[in-house]
Amino acid sequence: MGELVNEQYKDLIVYVPGKPVSETERELGISGCIKLASNENPLGPSPKALAAVADYMRQGHEYPDGGAFYLKQRIAAFHDISSENLITTNGTNELIEMLIRTTMLADENMIYGGYSFIIYKLCAMAANRQVRTVPFKDMRIDLEAMAAAVDDKTKLIFLDNPNNPCGTYFTKDEFDRFLAAIPDDVVVVYDEAYCHYVDADDYPKGFDYLNQRERFVLMRTFSKAYGLAGFRIGYGVGNKALIGYVNKGRQPFNCNSIGQVAALAALDDQEHVDNSVRMNKSEMLRLMSAYDALGLGYQPSQTNFLLVDFKKDVMEVYDKLLRQGVIVRPMAGYGLKTSARVSIGTPEENDKLLNAIPNI
Ligand SMILES: Cc1ncc(COP(=O)(O)O)c(C=O)c1O
Repeated sequence: MGELVNEQYKDLIVYVPGKPVSETERELGISGCIKLASNENPLGPSPKALAAVADYMRQGHEYPDGGAFYLKQRIAAFHDISSENLITTNGTNELIEMLIRTTMLADENMIYGGYSFIIYKLCAMAANRQVRTVPFKDMRIDLEAMAAAVDDKTKLIFLDNPNNPCGTYFTKDEFDRFLAAIPDDVVVVYDEAYCHYVDADDYPKGFDYLNQRERFVLMRTFSKAYGLAGFRIGYGVGNKALIGYVNKGRQPFNCNSIGQVAALAALDDQEHVDNSVRMNKSEMLRLMSAYDALGLGYQPSQTNFLLVDFKKDVMEVYDKLLRQGVIVRPMAGYGLKTSARVSIGTPEENDKLLNAIPNI
């Protein structure tokens, strides 16, 4: 018999999601667990989105609008761009996969930063494409080393700014210098998943680059500040030709109806985003002071999480926090053996975390 699967699937590293909170509670025999492991919005979805979804439910027998017509129209108006420059996807996870599939030839490589969003690498590996991993420098994306890693077979570069899991960012000056060094035929993908939380003045805004570089794709998601991670809506913005090609390979109903309805309503609820960002900032400052007092290390962050150095085996820390009903994301798999990524929760959730830490 011939091979059952593609060769690359045999050694494929898979993304390991956390267990459902209810299952963790059942296993540990506790209740009231809090999850600070997935950088979700602790205030939940926008109330406007929830109302729109509830209203929509009775149309659940209908297929989604395959062209996401109203959502694309609304996003385009929101950013003052044309719908032709826009593609909506099943979260940005799907867009990452689509960009790799659409643009990369068999012998081409993709470059990403060693501590960046791991899905870039996993999607390229699943597509049997070469990946070049450029280590971070001082817990930041090393743009100079990335530019140096480009060769004539480089097709894609993924940059998450700010990045996950470190929470650090690169500046506009650094980005401008980097882009000037990148050959025109390389597609630069700029992932702004956490941009709503950024308050640094020198942060490079993705929309400013769309007219500067032909092969540039900006990625945004409704999963973070909009609080719609479960509804699975992300989008990409880029030049019409490239977006047109990506669209050609899209599943006809890639964005589910409920997600479309929720995202559409969420764009009319700036107040919810503002409240979410405000609470995130004040709680992050409070947590940073508490971590200082506890002698823990952390990276300055422009996101809704902190990469915390507990200065001891993080798997042990993870386990001891879990037993107290607090779920964090250990980063041992990234080689950060004493660090965990801890999302910023509500004031009550953060109190629970801070009460649990001394017991580890
Ligand atoms: C940097 C980054 N990009 C993209 C995503 C994917 O988001 P989604 O697929 O929910 O849009 C995440 C999620 O955690 C992320 O951290």
